[in-house]
Amino acid sequence: MFRAARFVRGLRGITIMATAQDAAVAATAATTTPSPSPPPPPPPATSAPTILTTTTTTALPSSSHNDPSNVPRVPIPPRGVDYRGKVVLAPMVRSGELPSRLLALNYGADLVWGPETVDHSLIGATRRVNPRTGMIEYTRQPSHAHSPTNSLAAGDEGGPRESVIYRLDPVREKGRLVFQLGTSDPARAVAAARLVAPDVAGIDVNAGCPKPFSISGGMGAALLRDPDRLVSILEALVRDIPPSAGIGISVKIRLLETAQETEALVRRLVATGITGLTIHCRTTPMRPREPAIRGQLRMIANVCREAGVACLMNGDVVSRDHAGQLVPEFGVDGAMIATAAEKNPSCFRAAADGGMDPWQEVVKRYLRYAMEVENKMSNTKYLLTQMIPGRAPEYKEVHKSRSYSDIVRALGHGGDEELVQAARQADRAIGMGEFEPAREPRGKKKQKGQQQQQQQQQQQQQKQKQQQESKKRKREGEEAEEKEGAPEKRVEVVVDTTAPAPAAASAAV
Ligand SMILES: Cc1cc2nc3c(=O)[nH]c(=O)nc-3n(C[C@H](O)[C@H](O)[C@H](O)COP(=O)(O)O)c2cc1C
Repeated sequence: MFRAARFVRGLRGITIMATAQDAAVAATAATTTPSPSPPPPPPPATSAPTILTTTTTTALPSSSHNDPSNVPRVPIPPRGVDYRGKVVLAPMVRSGELPSRLLALNYGADLVWGPETVDHSLIGATRRVNPRTGMIEYTRQPSHAHSPTNSLAAGDEGGPRESVIYRLDPVREKGRLVFQLGTSDPARAVAAARLVAPDVAGIDVNAGCPKPFSISGGMGAALLRDPDRLVSILEALVRDIPPSAGIGISVKIRLLETAQETEALVRRLVATGITGLTIHCRTTPMRPREPAIRGQLRMIANVCREAGVACLMNGDVVSRDHAGQLVPEFGVDGAMIATAAEKNPSCFRAAADGGMDPWQEVVKRYLRYAMEVENKMSNTKYLLTQMIPGRAPEYKEVHKSRSYSDIVRALGHGGDEELVQAARQADRAIGMGEFEPAREPRGKKKQKGQQQQQQQQQQQQQKQKQQQESKKRKREGEEAEEKEGAPEKRVEVVVDTTAPAPAAASAAV
């Protein structure tokens, strides 16, 4: 396994020489509360290239309230993480799947949020360790009702394919992954959180999604209009999850229309026992492209600080260096990045540590992760087309690709034997490209369906004919009996089943 030596800038400015993996561990240890280790997962059985996390990390300048001596703090549970001093990857449905998170960590994100997952879809899911990759996967039979269906996994021994609801890396995401829950009900929230809690470092409740699916289900931004419900969800989670799983609970909200309304809401939320609050600095009706509003930010940071709750700012933060300016300016504890990281996750690397990479390098690294963890092809293509500029010739080629092998060629890496082999392996695992099961041509399939229908009709007609004939025979028999006036006698013969005897139970005489 490749172990690159790197210089790591520690949080206190000490420069340490370390391997990449050591650097990841050191960074995590320096910034999170130590935790008892669950048993390590089995090593990946794959020979796909393994990329080690991380390039790390110029620390954020600390706001005065980051000094632990002069502020109260909600205690961070033993396996939990403190959001203070962190620049983190935002939760993003579709764009926040495992390869994106690994890449963000690789470029120095301190923590990563997974995409919102609705409680319904997690409850009843099966947890398994993928034997080829070592990744933990929550899977279920495909259902169109609630499933975000972010990926498909080949069933073991060619069994039926299942939807992967959630996939995580038990090693590289350890202590750094926050699971975001979509919920509208305290009991369901607890049931879902309990399932995933042993594998993650925190549970976050989404109280900001404005999409009709969320709102109509009473989730996301609907909770901002129903603070009693939101508070009861957070209280239920705080009561149940930290004591059993040793991780903290947090919430992500949007601004309300006025500062007074926002303040009243935040005061209620920070009194529930949560350890962190993220404020997306837009109101619910605001479009993503409208500039974030920062006027209420200092007030929110102050309310959080008084209650000992860490406050992350979100909205138009574009890089670690940008976060480094904004955090002290508004007195918050850290920052969360979404769209800038979706386009180029190297935004998590400070200029002092090398700054941003060109898209070609970012895309290559992303592809490796995607193949290694068997990410669903459509999701990989979507992410690649977010990262590749639309005018680049590679954009169209990737868009047309139907397998990982196609993508490797489309990106001009056809001569890179390691990538070519990794692509073949990924294609085999998920049944793409040359490993795609042969599909019958459409016309032939239709013809087959018609033949089956005809057969069924013929069988039914034959059955009806037989029934009619048997009725006719019976009628004729009865008529004959009536004519002859001598009914056939039918005598029951009782057979002693204990004695060796003829098998007949009744006989006509
Ligand atoms: C593709 C995409 C998916 C998102 N999915 C979620 C989500 O699952 N949960 C959530 O709380 N916010 C979600 N968001 C909102 C972001 O987390 C973030 O709040 C918003 O984009 C503002 O940050 P930005 O200005 O850095 O983009 C999503 C945003 C994008 C672009």
